[in-house]
Amino acid sequence: MTQTVRDSRVALVTGGSRGIGAGIARRLATDGLRVAVTYTSTRERAEAIASEFGPDSVVAIHADSSDPDAVDAAVARTVALFGRLDVVVVNAGIASVGRFDELESAQIDRMLQVNVTGCCTPCGRRCAICPTTVASSRSAA
Ligand SMILES: NC(=O)c1ccc[n+]([C@@H]2O[C@H](COP(=O)([O-])OP(=O)(O)OC[C@H]3O[C@@H](n4cnc5c(N)ncnc54)[C@H](OP(=O)(O)O)[C@@H]3O)[C@@H](O)[C@H]2O)c1
Repeated sequence: MTQTVRDSRVALVTGGSRGIGAGIARRLATDGLRVAVTYTSTRERAEAIASEFGPDSVVAIHADSSDPDAVDAAVARTVALFGRLDVVVVNAGIASVGRFDELESAQIDRMLQVNVTGCCTPCGRRCAICPTTVASSRSAA
């Protein structure tokens, strides 16, 4: 895969190990951004993307999007590795297939945790991303 001139920005793609998130991560890395991808169970696939581009370009991080502390830690690790964070793609999501009235309450809870809480967390008050992003944007200006 051919990379263009290095873009100084850093991106975090939640659920970047496969599917749409992997496509986004590959595109960002191809465009020259440094990218962190998160996953919960598909470590090999996340690490395969990191291997494609090399450790200076893509890193795989285990982080469950339903766990605010894990997301905070992923953000902190991204900043520690790449020095800044400019772009967050909140992509991780799950869907239980079947009739809604036949879903177990645990399945509904899990979907809410991953798809709703997980969506809010990177922009939420508990996450370190806001001050980090503002600080890196200011220093880049
Ligand atoms: N494909 C569609 O037609 C479609 C339509 C509408 C909306 N969407 C949304 O678009 C997003 C991507 O869809 P997709 O089809 O690419 O999904 P996918 O192929 O199932 O991939 C989901 C990605 O999210 C990760 N993931 C799942 N749960 C996670 C969690 N709790 N924490 C962190 N990562 C997690 C998965 O890795 P692990 O399994 O390793 O965790 C995987 O990398 C989802 O939010 C989905 O709801 C998709």
